[in-house]
Amino acid sequence: MTITFHLNGEEVSLPDIEPTTTLLDWLRQDRGLTGTKEGCNEGDCGACTVMVSDQTGARALNACILFLPQLHGKSIRTVEGVASPDGTLHPAQQAMIDHHGSQCGFCTPGFIMSMVTAHTNGATDHDDQLAGNLCRCTGYAPIIRAAKAAENTPVPKWVTGDRSFIFSEISRGEVADRGAEPPSASHPAEPPAALRPTSSDALAATYVQHPNATLIAGATDVGLWVTKQLRDLEEVIFLEGCADLKEITVTDSEVRFGAMADMNRVRATLAPLHPSFAEMLRRFASQQVRAAATIGGNIANGSPIGDSPPALIALRAQLHLRQGDSRRQIPLEAFFLDYGKQDRAPGEFVEAVSFARQADSLRVYKLSKRFDQDISAVLGAFNVTVVDGVVSAACIAFGGMAASPKRAPHVEAALIGQPWSEATIAAAQAAFDVDFSPMSDMRASASYRLEVARNMLARYFDDLNGTPEHVLEVSA
Ligand SMILES: Cc1cc2nc3c(=O)[nH]c(=O)nc-3n(C[C@H](O)[C@H](O)[C@H](O)COP(=O)(O)OP(=O)(O)OC[C@H]3O[C@@H](n4cnc5c(N)ncnc54)[C@H](O)[C@@H]3O)c2cc1C
Ligand code: FES
Ligand code: FES
Repeated sequence: MTITFHLNGEEVSLPDIEPTTTLLDWLRQDRGLTGTKEGCNEGDCGACTVMVSDQTGARALNACILFLPQLHGKSIRTVEGVASPDGTLHPAQQAMIDHHGSQCGFCTPGFIMSMVTAHTNGATDHDDQLAGNLCRCTGYAPIIRAAKAAENTPVPKWVTGDRSFIFSEISRGEVADRGAEPPSASHPAEPPAALRPTSSDALAATYVQHPNATLIAGATDVGLWVTKQLRDLEEVIFLEGCADLKEITVTDSEVRFGAMADMNRVRATLAPLHPSFAEMLRRFASQQVRAAATIGGNIANGSPIGDSPPALIALRAQLHLRQGDSRRQIPLEAFFLDYGKQDRAPGEFVEAVSFARQADSLRVYKLSKRFDQDISAVLGAFNVTVVDGVVSAACIAFGGMAASPKRAPHVEAALIGQPWSEATIAAAQAAFDVDFSPMSDMRASASYRLEVARNMLARYFDDLNGTPEHVLEVSA
């Protein structure tokens, strides 16, 4: 598998690479570009942030959980490549100096790369843009001041120059087509054998022939299997080249996310339709992780604390699965059979998830120990329809309350047909004990989880009735 990309303005071609080599290891060990730091090596701290550009624009990504084949045809800027060739600093670099944004300096290259990407994209929501960068020294205020100071400076020419490279110099098909072939005598497989289909049709054909292969979408889960669990993946299929799986379609009747839609695009699509869902996704990991993480990966991993499945279940989403030429569609909730067990046959993959356009009564509440970039202890998603003061329909689902994302059928039954009133909410509380027997772990005890879930229903009642309930909106 030959991978070609641009690194700091220069073309790099890598024949015969080990497919699960991370960009961070390659930059530091093979290229000597040690400005990109290794902190956690699991996507949490942002010290390894780089800017990756392609046809869809520029994204800040964590190099520690990014495999080299995911970068074919793209343009990478590291901290060594953001100053002008004549040495003029990027406005974000200059602002960090002017505003004393660096103390020990370990985090600084990662901050610079997040700031350069935000600056390139004209993004000024600095708290969100930098939530995935951990600084232990500065207290953040000087860094935010620096980001603000750089806001109105023009994007340097040497950064915009990456775009002409992306469109003209690399044929996106060349390596991908070769990689989509099964290993053969002329292209012998080396462990792990890596395949890189360029469409969902090619993926379907490849995956039925290699049902034991690990699918790699954004690698924000799989990356950690390699960097933290030190697992050897014997055979891998990269989905990055399947452009059709990245499609998002919104019609008058339906919203459909291709499995490879990343969480930042999902969030932007949901913002006008279901703002509470979109607001929850602002707290899904960080900018860097959301830019890589896909909605298909968030569903397929079957995690009991994945953030999007309960919200999608509450919207009565359908999951679209494909195995070879055959397709099937199931309610999303039916996909999750038990802990680590999903309704997915060998060679079958998630193609899309869809739900009907509907009036917005969805609210999604994420409870975690930290506000930003933390895994949920409990996530509740509520979608109740009230007609003439009476509950006519209810779809309620939780994460963190069972071995997999799960609906609350007895709570729903306790609401349907009843007046939408405090008395009904109070009467429904007992049903939580029937629906859920959560576990205690380091995030929360079982009894706390149950109490939180009950309180979320009360919060939803207030919320639909117009009482401010958001922790950032309530003031004394
Ligand atoms: C620092 C950090 C913070 C995080 N915070 C959150 C958070 O707040 N909330 C949250 O929910 N998650 C969080 N995650 C977990 C992760 O980002 C998500 O689960 C993400 O959506 C996974 O998507 P991916 O594309 O990266 O999947 P990958 O890592 O590529 O794959 C995950 C799994 O799904 C399989 N898979 C991928 N695509 C398909 C497909 N189309 N069909 C079938 N199988 C497929 C893979 O084989 C693998 O088993 C976090 C991760 C990190 C590293
Ligand atoms: S080293 Fe911490 S996010 Fe990559
Ligand atoms: S300046 Fe020391 S970690 Fe940020």
